[in-house]
Amino acid sequence: MMGVIYYSKFYWVAMADEKLKKIVYQAHPNEYVCHVAFVYKIALDLQKRFGGNRRVIAAAALLHDHGRGHHDKPHQELGAALARKILKKLNYQNDEIEQVVTCILNHSARASAKSSIEEKIVSSADGAAQVIYSPLFGLLSKKEPCEKSAWVLKHLAKGFAKISLPEFKQEVAPFYQQLKSINCESVKVFRSITK
Ligand SMILES: [Fe+2]
Ligand SMILES: [Fe+2]
Repeated sequence: MMGVIYYSKFYWVAMADEKLKKIVYQAHPNEYVCHVAFVYKIALDLQKRFGGNRRVIAAAALLHDHGRGHHDKPHQELGAALARKILKKLNYQNDEIEQVVTCILNHSARASAKSSIEEKIVSSADGAAQVIYSPLFGLLSKKEPCEKSAWVLKHLAKGFAKISLPEFKQEVAPFYQQLKSINCESVKVFRSITK
């Protein structure tokens, strides 16, 4: 009997994630492939190490940038409002929905503004994905190549600053330093060629 209950719970969690992935992919296919899928994976790895509510972390990781593409409101605010509607339809509990909303609203805020482990994990995963997968993240920019390198550099720094788990930040630091120097070089080479 316990096995059936455990299996049902596991199945429900997996199905909820799959439904959210489909919703996000349909709305933002490029962002999903180049960024959100990595945020989701890193967030779940961090949840195994540092704890927190898995359903909240998975939903917030998948929906954190769902408000992108509309310029009348910050994407965090729009994403939070969309998340409320989506998660209600998927029968998430109200307290979990509010935790997801808080994670989405604070995913770009400075490290000290985050209080729960769920918020810290989602924003750290978002930042780490920006750093570790920066060449893919750079593809999302519609800018010219030279500008794009500067854009990638800016987002590398922003991504690294978002990582609020000290132990994890130390692990990402070597990637950050290496990628920063590669991108600096590519900007210099591009500028010397186009002079
Ligand atoms: Fe974002
Ligand atoms: Fe993001």
